[in-house]
Amino acid sequence: MSLAAIRLWADLPKATIHPNIYGHFAEHLGRCTYEGIWVGHKSPIPNESGLRLDVLAALKQLRAPVVRWPGGCFADMYHWRDGIGSQKERPETVNIWWRQAEPNGFGTGEFMRFCRAVGCQPYICVNVGSGSPREALDWLEYCNFGGDSTLSRARGVNDSSKPHGVKYWGVGNENWGCGGRYAASDYAKEFVRYGSYMKALDPSIELIACGCSPMDYQNPGYVAWNHDFCNAMPHADLIDHLSIHRYFGRGDGLNFTESEYRALFVDLVSLERDLQLADDVLGYFYPDKHVGLAVDEWGVWHPNAAVDNGLEQANTLRDAVFAGAALNLFNRYAHRVSMANIAQTINVLQCLAITDRTKMVLTPTYHVYDMMRAHMGARLLTQEIECPSMEGHPVGLRKRFSTPMLSASASVAGGKVLLTVANQSWDEDIETRIDLRGAKVEIMSGRVLNSMSPRDVNTFEAPKTVVPKRIRIESVGGEWVHVFPAHSLTALSLTLG
Ligand code: AHR
Repeated sequence: MSLAAIRLWADLPKATIHPNIYGHFAEHLGRCTYEGIWVGHKSPIPNESGLRLDVLAALKQLRAPVVRWPGGCFADMYHWRDGIGSQKERPETVNIWWRQAEPNGFGTGEFMRFCRAVGCQPYICVNVGSGSPREALDWLEYCNFGGDSTLSRARGVNDSSKPHGVKYWGVGNENWGCGGRYAASDYAKEFVRYGSYMKALDPSIELIACGCSPMDYQNPGYVAWNHDFCNAMPHADLIDHLSIHRYFGRGDGLNFTESEYRALFVDLVSLERDLQLADDVLGYFYPDKHVGLAVDEWGVWHPNAAVDNGLEQANTLRDAVFAGAALNLFNRYAHRVSMANIAQTINVLQCLAITDRTKMVLTPTYHVYDMMRAHMGARLLTQEIECPSMEGHPVGLRKRFSTPMLSASASVAGGKVLLTVANQSWDEDIETRIDLRGAKVEIMSGRVLNSMSPRDVNTFEAPKTVVPKRIRIESVGGEWVHVFPAHSLTALSLTLG
């Protein structure tokens, strides 16, 4: 068995981990919004005003902080007026990106009710590609305006006389691609137009500008879009967050090989590279204002998830451990990452739950969010890890890298430390000494998410194949030692004396 050490400094707290790092994303795509969230009032599936009860309860349990909607690529072809008012009078339109009919049954009012029922913040992405600043401004007025106007009265009739108070507004989605194929400097001009009017109408909102991972741009390793956008957009007062998206995939979603398994984890090196580059760009261009980095789409995207099957795919333990390691990384960049939204909440890509008519099964990734939720709003701790490493060639980078087998992050809140550790090894258990400096540990207990094989999944027939199990660790002679099993995520709660 390999040996390792994790050292934490309770007396060296760093940035606060923004709760929105544990956020979600729901698009009008395949069975995510329709079927996954919205089944309509007349459905035999148990629902509250058309919203699936099982899904609401699952997301409520996670204390999901924020949900981004309505896209994704769909956002830049969505016209919000199609989704308000009487259900019967809403037009049926075409969802061109995901090649499906759009019944418009789920619109602004339904999304607001969904967010209220879950207890999360709504994050709306407006249409830049085929929309206009006027359309976006009207949507904002409809949602947030507290005075008397035709649109605020319409909101009163349709949903609520009280303003919805939507704080997060994305100005387009992937505008270098499906959001209108802009050049960075042209998008910067659009962003200034949208931002100037939207912030004038409601200065309390936070705007998310479309950024780009170098992985998505033509020239990996080059910070072109983010640099060029910020360079052409000097108005720090308008921007609150810059968004990047990252998807990962190595081999088949279910029948991957050991080397594909390892390659997926090594790809996190390139995610860290993206975070660091964006951190540098934002720090350079907006030195007097903290602009957050919103990784508002991320997750695994396996080759079997295609437009034809509504981007549905297997969700294995490997994906869950990967999510744990990525969330650890976002936590460690808490000084810059202000939001992260895994794609997509239900049925699509790296979802948290899969539905089949009246049934719902939680994926292994769901349990990761449950196990890590105490990080939300806690203070990140300084850490050091000594452990074996694994080698590979991260996607988009030229050379091989070696990366630690253990990925970890720790935070403190209310007299407790949460330490989350992903053992990314395929088959090595790692005996680890956990050393907390600056405070005394009284009790150490927690949960581990593990299974025989990293290829294991939860199914309707066997929904508990990959679920967390409780563990308690005893100190021996004042030392805390724990074996992190191969391909697992462990969440340890350290009660301080
Ligand atoms: O999540 C699926 C798609 O991936 C989104 O619509 C788009 O923004 C991204 O390319």
